[in-house]
Amino acid sequence: MPAYEMPDMESDEFALWQAFLEKRTGLWLPESRKAFLIAALSRHMKEKGIQNYSELYSKLDAGAISILDWASLVDSLTVHETCYYRDISSLNVVSSYCRNRATERFQAEPEKPQHFQLWSVGCSTGEEAYTLAIEMDKLNIGLNESCGKQVYFGVTGVDISYPSLAVAREGIYASRQLDFVPPVTKNSYFNRLADEYYQIKDNIRQRTCFIQSNVLEMSTKLKQNFDVIYCQNVLIYFRQDKKQAVIEQLTQRLKPGGLLVLGHGELTSVGNELLTRVDNKHCLAFLRKDS
Ligand SMILES: C[S@@+](CC[C@H](N)C(=O)[O-])C[C@H]1O[C@@H](n2cnc3c(N)ncnc32)[C@H](O)[C@@H]1O
Repeated sequence: MPAYEMPDMESDEFALWQAFLEKRTGLWLPESRKAFLIAALSRHMKEKGIQNYSELYSKLDAGAISILDWASLVDSLTVHETCYYRDISSLNVVSSYCRNRATERFQAEPEKPQHFQLWSVGCSTGEEAYTLAIEMDKLNIGLNESCGKQVYFGVTGVDISYPSLAVAREGIYASRQLDFVPPVTKNSYFNRLADEYYQIKDNIRQRTCFIQSNVLEMSTKLKQNFDVIYCQNVLIYFRQDKKQAVIEQLTQRLKPGGLLVLGHGELTSVGNELLTRVDNKHCLAFLRKDS
């Protein structure tokens, strides 16, 4: 097969791949992403000297592929587009939720240390997780000025993609990834490197960690519960029943009274009795009822 040739794929063969990938990863590739699948598989076949889709399918089905190759194939089937401060309305909801909770808790128990755990689900290359950590740091500056107190916080980023997580851990970004970062924030939280690259500062990196996992299998990897779960532009990869399974898992990981933020328009109903919608037409957020 010449390097540039991508063999066509019949509808029934595509259906086979759709079912296979959904079974193995939970990800659903709609017909509109067929070209994407063909490109990813062809690249892989070229690298491995595999002649056609059915030979590759048999190898994958038999598990005759290294973990690394499988990870890189899955990686090439998902989109990792992201940036800092991608969705201001949702971030504002998180900031005011944390500010109000912190203030209430300090008023109720002034001497008790307060902890906030935040989770960026489908964090890609880390911009979303670091944005949340920056917002929490700003919250602490405000609390310090108003009542001389600070909260302890941590942000966990989870993604299925190993290469994206490697970028996240390094924390170095081209300047276009910071296009929506307010200038004062850019100066305070980033070190400028050569060639228009920026690195997130250590005080923010130290509050952030990254874990590889499929969002559908997180119960085996993450045991802690969160005050805020932020999951944007990830549900698009799932069919309706799997979306509900993801929401179910996320709700289980939310502390009572915790905040779940989804991508605007990603879901019409959550179908979960533990969640109540936050009254804000600019974002899709829910509070877990206190039990
Ligand atoms: C379009 S990016 C969104 C990044 C970020 N949340 C944002 O909104 O800017 C989607 C990310 O979800 C990740 N993803 C897709 N399916 C996943 C799954 N089943 N488990 C974990 N991460 C997944 C992809 O690897 C990708 O990095």
